[in-house]
Amino acid sequence: MSINDTGLNIVENNKNNLSIYVHIPFCNSKCAYCSFVSVVGNDEEKKRYFNDLVTEIKLQSKNYRQFYSVGSIYIGGGTPSCLDYYYIRDLLSSIYKNFSVKNTAEITIELNPGTIDKNKVREYILSGVNRFSVGLQSTNPKILKSMGRTHTPEDFDSAITTIREFGIKNISADMIIGYPKQTLTDVKETLMYLISKDIPHISIYMLQVEDGTALKKMVDNNAIALPEEDLVIKMYNFVSEVLAERGYTRYELSNFAKPTFESFHNKIYWQRKDYLGLGLAAHSYISGTRFSNTESMEEYTRLLETVEQLPTVMSKTLTIEEKKEEAIMLSLRTAEGLDLEAYTAEFGENFLAKKKSLIAKLIEANFLKLVNNHLVCTQKGFLVLNQIVLQLCS
Ligand SMILES: C[S@@+](CC[C@H](N)C(=O)[O-])C[C@H]1O[C@@H](n2cnc3c(N)ncnc32)[C@H](O)[C@@H]1O
Ligand code: SF4
Repeated sequence: MSINDTGLNIVENNKNNLSIYVHIPFCNSKCAYCSFVSVVGNDEEKKRYFNDLVTEIKLQSKNYRQFYSVGSIYIGGGTPSCLDYYYIRDLLSSIYKNFSVKNTAEITIELNPGTIDKNKVREYILSGVNRFSVGLQSTNPKILKSMGRTHTPEDFDSAITTIREFGIKNISADMIIGYPKQTLTDVKETLMYLISKDIPHISIYMLQVEDGTALKKMVDNNAIALPEEDLVIKMYNFVSEVLAERGYTRYELSNFAKPTFESFHNKIYWQRKDYLGLGLAAHSYISGTRFSNTESMEEYTRLLETVEQLPTVMSKTLTIEEKKEEAIMLSLRTAEGLDLEAYTAEFGENFLAKKKSLIAKLIEANFLKLVNNHLVCTQKGFLVLNQIVLQLCS
């Protein structure tokens, strides 16, 4: 290692990138469709959780600080913005103390409309947050109500105004398509509203009916009906077409961005690059090993407080076959697709030659296309991505 300043900088710059996800498992109330690990929680529970989180940060930094510098931090949940701002300030300051965070790092926080004010946004920015992801889901008040959302479309509007007052441009919004009783007109209205607000990054999720949710119970009891598959396809085709016309790139199945607004952090997941998950139920992928934290708050607390032990409960080093499957599954979600040359370099086999007749059939049927030696999903392919991946991996 060089002893002069320049040399030390070179060592710093040569460190691998690490992206950090922090899970905040608190929400003001539970949405009907949501299976993310979160509770309402009281002040004492919140305080305790953040103390434990700092212990986890300190323990994990011993493993990674030396070899990595942090290129992105994503504070998700749950609803990080339902807490007093100082929890987030102290959390970030602990990460800065314990890890080497690049000064160009993308730092995102998830917000719910109706949970922020000027002071919170100012404090987030002072703490280093430079990207805001706001959950709108729908502009139809009836749909919002049936989802169990506690905000109005106007709350979203005022959240965006507040964030922009501080000069922040890097804003993302979430919307859901395929919700019971949602019509194509509802989807059009929500999308056109987001476009009219010039939101530069939009995540559009097709509803997943998750086990253990209130929605799943209602569907199982026939209390609520899911929309026909054809309608959901129409919704997805509509949003994809309109966003393309308006200058958004679909850089991943559910993520659309104006130039320069793609999320660095999101892309880490699909590129199978290293990320460290901190907090309850957080998942990590580092050097070919996937590991995850306990989903039990009791166990999380016990491990960190009584034995100062990491709350990891699952760890799996991927086999070559599993790595190949992940490479196919994750890359086909992206606009770039599967880089066939990189695949050959990593796995020592020619994927195109190995699956020649199947790939030819999928291309012929317009599910896949070949672009500059990348295997890429077509619009038709994106709609049946799981089936395509299953066939390619069998
Ligand atoms: C961690 S969640 C929520 C962030 C924030 N608490 C909120 O609700 O706006 C991230 C996003 O996942 C999406 N999501 C959650 N559960 C979903 C489900 N079952 N199906 C489809 N999208 C879902 C929602 O769009 C949500 O905004
Ligand atoms: S969608 Fe967001 S606000 Fe609703 S329960 Fe899930 S994490 Fe909480």
